[in-house]
Amino acid sequence: MKKLMAANWKMFKTWDEARATAQELVDLAAAKLPGDREVLVFPQFTALKGVADVFQGIDGFSVGGQDYYIKEEGAYTGEISPKMLESVGAVYGLTGHSERRHVLGEDDEYIGAKTSYGLESGLKVVFCIGEKIEDRKAGRVEEVLEHQIRVGLKNVPINIDPENLSIAYEPVWAIGTGEVAGPEEILEAHAFTRKILISIFGEKANEMRVLYGGSVKPANCAEIIALDNVDGVLVGGASLEGESFSQIVLA
Ligand code: PGA
Repeated sequence: MKKLMAANWKMFKTWDEARATAQELVDLAAAKLPGDREVLVFPQFTALKGVADVFQGIDGFSVGGQDYYIKEEGAYTGEISPKMLESVGAVYGLTGHSERRHVLGEDDEYIGAKTSYGLESGLKVVFCIGEKIEDRKAGRVEEVLEHQIRVGLKNVPINIDPENLSIAYEPVWAIGTGEVAGPEEILEAHAFTRKILISIFGEKANEMRVLYGGSVKPANCAEIIALDNVDGVLVGGASLEGESFSQIVLA
């Protein structure tokens, strides 16, 4: 199983800026990329085609859409479909990100509908979960993660190709705060996530990637990526510069 080194560019970068960062990343990392690593960038929709073009023909580099709606087309002003993302080169889609849950108000049911619809539409999906600090303080981490996983994946067919579904554990309190989760916290959450995935999908859940996200930086990536059940990272802030994300990708 290849480790998935993913960048979430959120609402940053114009067309030119995104292409320049993507090119810098290719220049710094493509030739040295180990065979067991895969690089994925989630740019803004407006830059998706530009970044996909920069990655064209480069082994192990792909792009994904940060969001999509649960219909192929129709009168849904402002929305975008998996097919439209695929038509400009997206291979992946992102669901359940903390900002979509807690800033933009998406609930578990809608995130679940998006996750299954994206997979059905041919995207590989990175589905995010994670507890808030008050959940952790109240000892509710497992309860929150289990609920998010079970509702979020309830419509995903059991016979899914495990390569097409990755789960990103991103504790909300670690996102954009500089406060990375400790090794014990990551190990526990990832082992628990794997256990729930196995209870749903059986042994093939061992082939699903479980990523960690939340204040991953060049200085902490090597330690995180070496932990049991950590099959990649999802990086926000430190992915915005080609130099820093290339160090993460190669860590
Ligand atoms: P961060 O963001 O790396 O800036 O903490 C992670 C994410 O939002 O996926």
